[in-house]
Amino acid sequence: MTTAPKTFTRTARVLHWLMAVMVVAMLFIGVGMVASVSERHEWLLRIHKPLGIAILLLAVVRLGVRLRHPPPPLPADLPAVQKLAAFASHWLLYFLMLAMPLIGWAMLSAGGYPVMLGTSLRLPPIFPVSADAFAVLRHLHGAFAMLLFLTFLAHMAAALYHGLIRRDGVLSGMLGRRST
Ligand code: HEM
Ligand code: HEM
Repeated sequence: MTTAPKTFTRTARVLHWLMAVMVVAMLFIGVGMVASVSERHEWLLRIHKPLGIAILLLAVVRLGVRLRHPPPPLPADLPAVQKLAAFASHWLLYFLMLAMPLIGWAMLSAGGYPVMLGTSLRLPPIFPVSADAFAVLRHLHGAFAMLLFLTFLAHMAAALYHGLIRRDGVLSGMLGRRST
């Protein structure tokens, strides 16, 4: 008989908090980038691209970890609608962590821009050059960034609700301290 895990594995927790910092930083870097001109824009873009590709690679690793190690179950007394919201928002976050970097990479490919990671490593294009596709993908990158930001806000609010109001062990499960 297998028993359900009481907490997330250490690897899952390290990946969660590392990627949380990276994703939130990327949202601010992205907005800062489009709001600035000249040198600061270039400087932020030089961070945005490799950090985004690192998120893509880590998201693939994290999905593998997630499939091998199921998360601890949510409290049995949690209303079904909240369980459904947790399930849907977690998979939406996984989807966006994969989609955002791929769309960014495809957008630059469609615009005919080189995707440089540092000064010498150049990634191959993943989309044919097309002005129309560039416009659509650029719009999609911005719209999905907004969706990611809103989902993150709801996710953080839910975590605080579990940690401060329900005190049901869900937040401590991600902090590595679940005891029940
Ligand atoms: C999790 C990963 C990523 C996040 C959260 C993210 C987020 C953002 C955000 C918030 C913006 C500003 C959008 C706006 O206000 O219109 C932006 C713009 C941009 N991103 Fe990303 N991004 C990610 C990955 C990438 C990657 C991997 C690339 C390229 C390889 C990339 C290339 C760009 C470019 C070129 C812009 C400027 C677009 C413009 O001029 O309108 N992004 N990103
Ligand atoms: C202050 C910020 C954050 C807090 C307090 C937080 C808290 C938590 C907590 C408590 C859980 C466990 C929920 C459960 O037991 O079902 C969780 C899961 C998760 N978080 Fe966060 N989180 C934060 C930021 C983020 C960010 C920025 C992302 C990614 C964009 C993210 C993605 C996820 C995902 C995908 C899961 C589901 C994990 C799984 O089931 O494999 N989190 N988070």
